[in-house]
Amino acid sequence: MKLDLFERFLATHLPTATSFHPHYDKALSEMLLVGGKRFRPSLLLTVVEALQPALLESACWAAAAVEVLHTYSLIHDDLPVMDNAPMRRGHPTLHVTYDEVTAVLVGDALNTYAFELLAQAPLAPTTVVALVKELAKAGGVGGMVLGQAIDCHFTGHRLSYEELVLLHRKKTADLIAASLVMGGIIAGLSSESLESLRTFGLEAGLLFQIRDDLIDLLLSSEEAGKTTGHDGDKNSFVTLLGRDGALDAFEAQLKLVDDLLAKMPEQLSVALAQEIEPYRKLR
Ligand code: IPE
Ligand code: IPE
Ligand code: MG
Ligand code: MG
Ligand code: MG
Repeated sequence: MKLDLFERFLATHLPTATSFHPHYDKALSEMLLVGGKRFRPSLLLTVVEALQPALLESACWAAAAVEVLHTYSLIHDDLPVMDNAPMRRGHPTLHVTYDEVTAVLVGDALNTYAFELLAQAPLAPTTVVALVKELAKAGGVGGMVLGQAIDCHFTGHRLSYEELVLLHRKKTADLIAASLVMGGIIAGLSSESLESLRTFGLEAGLLFQIRDDLIDLLLSSEEAGKTTGHDGDKNSFVTLLGRDGALDAFEAQLKLVDDLLAKMPEQLSVALAQEIEPYRKLR
C-alpha cells in the first residue's frame, strides 16, 4: 500500500527538462522508472506509517528524494571509470544506452533534484532543514561519496577487516540509516529515539551490503538484474573472508539486527521486521 503510494508519487514527480536535446529528458527518469527494490523509501515510509500515518503523503517527498539520490549513486557507480557495469535494474546502464557524458550529467541532475524535492515537501520548515541535513550528510562528503572513494581507490589493494566494515558503512549503511532517521524526523521522534533508529539502520545497512557482496558471487546478472561476478578485485566480504566466511558474517549480522529490533518499541519493531524479511535470504 505505501509502496503503491510511493510509485504514484514518483511517477508524477519525475525530473523533466524539455529542450532540443535529443535524449537528456528521457534519460533523466529512465533509471528511476525501471524499478529497483525501493528499500530506502520503503524504510522511510514504514517509520512514518507506524508512528504518524497521517503524514504518509507528505513523507513521499522525502522518500522520493532518498530514492532519487540513491539512483544517482547507482548511475555513477556503474560508469566505466567506477565499476564498469553494463546492466542495472534489468536494463542497460545509461552510459551503454546513450554515452558516458549523459550518465555523468543525469547523475549530477538527480543529485540536486533530490534536494529540490525535499525543499518542496509540505512539512514544517524546521523539519525540511533537518531532512536536508540528514540526506546531505549521509549521501555526500563524509558519507556515501567517501565510501565510493575508498571503494574505488583501494580496488586491487586489500583492506583490513575493520577498513572494509568502514567502507561498507559509508557507501551503503549511512544512506540506509538516514532513510530511517528521516522517517523519524518527519514523525517527530526525540533525538534519542532517532539515534536508536540510526544504530539499527547502520547494522541493517551493513547486512544489506554483505548480502550484496554475496549476490555478486552467487547470482547471475539475469537473476540479480545487474552486472554480477564483478567484485573480484574489490574489497568485499567475499574477497576478504571467502564464500563461507561471508555467509557466516551475514548470519552473525542478521542476529545483531534481530537483537536491535527486539529492543525497539513494538509498533516499530513489527513493521521494520517485515521490511527486513526479504533480505534475510539471498533470493
Ligand atoms: C544497490 O542498491 C547498491 C548497494 C548499495 C548495494 P539496491 O540493491 O538497493 O539497488 P536497487 O535500488 O534495488 O536497484
Ligand atoms: C555500490 O556498491 C554502493 C553505492 C553507493 C552505489 P556496489 O558497487 O557493490 O553496488 P552494486 O553491486 O553495483 O549494486
Ligand atoms: Mg561500486
Ligand atoms: Mg557496483
Ligand atoms: Mg555490489
